[in-house]
Amino acid sequence: MRIALLGARGQLGSELVKTRPEGVELFPLTRSEVDVTDGKRVDALLSEVRPDLILNATAYVKVDQAEDEPEKAFAVNAVGVKNLVDVCLKTGSVLVHISTDYVFDGKKGEIGKPYTEEDRPNPINIYGISKYAGELVVRNYLERYYIVRVAGLYGRAGTSGKGGNFVYTILRKARAGEPLRVVNDTFVSPTYALDAARKIWEIILDERPYGTYHVTNGGWCSWYEFACRILEFAGLEAEIRPVKHTEFPTRARRPLWSPLESVRGVAMRPWEEALRDFIREIV
Ligand SMILES: NC(=O)c1ccc[n+]([C@@H]2O[C@H](COP(=O)([O-])OP(=O)(O)OC[C@H]3O[C@@H](n4cnc5c(N)ncnc54)[C@H](OP(=O)(O)O)[C@@H]3O)[C@@H](O)[C@H]2O)c1
Repeated sequence: MRIALLGARGQLGSELVKTRPEGVELFPLTRSEVDVTDGKRVDALLSEVRPDLILNATAYVKVDQAEDEPEKAFAVNAVGVKNLVDVCLKTGSVLVHISTDYVFDGKKGEIGKPYTEEDRPNPINIYGISKYAGELVVRNYLERYYIVRVAGLYGRAGTSGKGGNFVYTILRKARAGEPLRVVNDTFVSPTYALDAARKIWEIILDERPYGTYHVTNGGWCSWYEFACRILEFAGLEAEIRPVKHTEFPTRARRPLWSPLESVRGVAMRPWEEALRDFIREIV
């Protein structure tokens, strides 16, 4: 199977490269080779590669900055996706598109249940709206697609668009002896990018039914609890204090509750187990 991977150097993209299964002929593409916002270039390059499947791990991921430059977020997360969709329509390639828990508004927190693939998105910030626009383009133009929503990603490479990830930030601050203040009223499903990459390959190779999948490690926690487990697994002592999100004003509103779970049979191991493995790998 010939697969073109866009965003190959990103946090998730690099794990997809690392975990490439046997029998997959992978064409890892970075932004310098093809900018997804450039429709002509996307068409020319992918028409040459002629992949059976296009895997889109590109994204504009700066959640706060997106509020001030929505056109940049939409250029990558919606127009860029349309450019890939157009290639799929022309060549018959399957599209795997990565999306986010931020397509949800967090209101499901009132009943304390994670969002499943059956819940209705209602994004509350520009990043989430642009990602949802990308999903709609895929869903409304293609029949042969996978939309894979991930959340709270951390991996060896760190998010290139955000300059790291939460795990690295907590470790760096703790080692520098900085006191930590972390929100304890915002909840997420922390997800190891390596686990997510393996599950994405499994979905593709098992030829699962097309549609939307939630690919996160099992369970959920507040960002405060996430930080506490990072310190514990790394064997670090630090001064850490739980705070409310209102004490940490950010440019973009964020859903206070965005844990995901799958009702489509792609559940993964618990988040604590995955985090322990990741920390063992990096410290
Ligand atoms: N990180 C999270 O916590 C999180 C949570 C939920 C969902 N997600 C989703 O997971 C996916 C992967 O995120 P990630 O953490 O791996 O982000 P990332 O590390 O920032 O990777 C995104 C990649 O997209 C590339 N890219 C950006 N704009 C591009 C363009 N115009 N043309 C071509 N390539 C472009 C970037 O290249 P450069 O490095 O050259 O800029 C980067 O390699 C995204 O769909 C994101 O929305 C992430």
